[in-house]
Amino acid sequence: MREIEMIKEIQRLKKEKNAIILAHNYQIPEIQEIADLVGDSLKLSKKAAETDADIIVLSGVNFMAETAKILSPNKKVLLPAHDAGCPMADMIDTEKLKDFKEEHKDAVVVCYVNSSAEVKAESDICCTSSNAVKIIKSIEADKILFVPDKNLGHYVSKQVPEKEIISYKGFCITHHRVQGREVDHIRSEYPDAEVLVHPECSPDVVEKADFIGSTSQIISYAKESPSKVFIIGTEMGVLHKLQKDSPYKRFYLLSTGLICNNMKKTRLVDIYNALAEEKYEITVNESTRLKALNALNKMLEIS
Ligand code: 13P
Ligand code: SF4
Repeated sequence: MREIEMIKEIQRLKKEKNAIILAHNYQIPEIQEIADLVGDSLKLSKKAAETDADIIVLSGVNFMAETAKILSPNKKVLLPAHDAGCPMADMIDTEKLKDFKEEHKDAVVVCYVNSSAEVKAESDICCTSSNAVKIIKSIEADKILFVPDKNLGHYVSKQVPEKEIISYKGFCITHHRVQGREVDHIRSEYPDAEVLVHPECSPDVVEKADFIGSTSQIISYAKESPSKVFIIGTEMGVLHKLQKDSPYKRFYLLSTGLICNNMKKTRLVDIYNALAEEKYEITVNESTRLKALNALNKMLEIS
C-alpha cells in the first residue's frame, strides 16, 4: 500500500472504530502528522484519562501504553510496536524497589512515570519530567526515594534542597551518554544559541543549559523565545515540531547520539496494523492497576 493510501485507511479505521492516536514527541514525523495528539508523557496521560474513544493507539513505548490502560481500564489500549520498551524503566523491578525501600524505611517513594505498572503500584506518587519539582515540593515528608532515574532525581534535588532525595541508580541510555564538553564545544560554534535540555541528561550537561524541561516544555520554550538559534539536548524526534512551529529559527541537536531506538520502532504501517487488527493489546492485572492508579491519580490531582 502506498503511504497516501495507508494514511486514508488509518483515518477511515479511526472513525469506524472510534479510535484515537496519541503519539509521543519522539515519534517519527509521519506518525506525528496523523496523530490526534502529540505530547510529552504528562499530556498523553491526561488525554488517555479523559478521552471518550473506545480504542487508544499509543504510539510510544510500553510504559506510556500501560499508563493509558491504568487510567482508562475500559478502553482497548494498543501499542503498535509490541517490543517498544524503555531501557530505563527496565532498570528497576518490584524486587529491587522493595530492597531499596527496606534500606530507607521512613521515606516517601516518588516514581518517575518511566516505570512499569508493578513499580508504580509499589510507589506512593508518580511524576513526569514536567512536574517532578512540583510533585516533590507538594510532599510533606522530608525524605524521598526517587526511582528509577538518578539524573532527574539529581536535578530535582537541586531545585528542592530542603528535602533529602535519595535516587535509585537508573538512567536513560540515550540522554545519559551526552557529555558536558559537548555543550562547551557546540556553544563555541553557536555563541548566540540557547541550550535546551531534558532533565534525563547527566548533571554536567544540565548545569550548563539555559533551560531544562520535558519534551513539550522544550517545544513551548523555543516557540516563545526571541532567540533564533537553539541547541537541543533531547531525543531528535522533537526537531519535527520545533521546526514546524518556528520555520525561521534554527535547531541543532546537542549530540549525534540523541536517538532512542525504542521510540523509532513504530512506523506508519504499524499504526495501520494496530488499527486494522487491534494489536498489540495492553493488559494490566487489576490489583496492580488499582495501586498504580492511586499513585498516578495523586500526581494528576497536583498537575
Ligand atoms: P517527556 O515526559 O519529557 O516527554 O519524557 C519522556 C521520555 O521518555 C524522555 O526520554
Ligand atoms: Fe526511555 Fe530514554 Fe527512550 Fe525516553 S529516551 S523512552 S527514557 S530510553
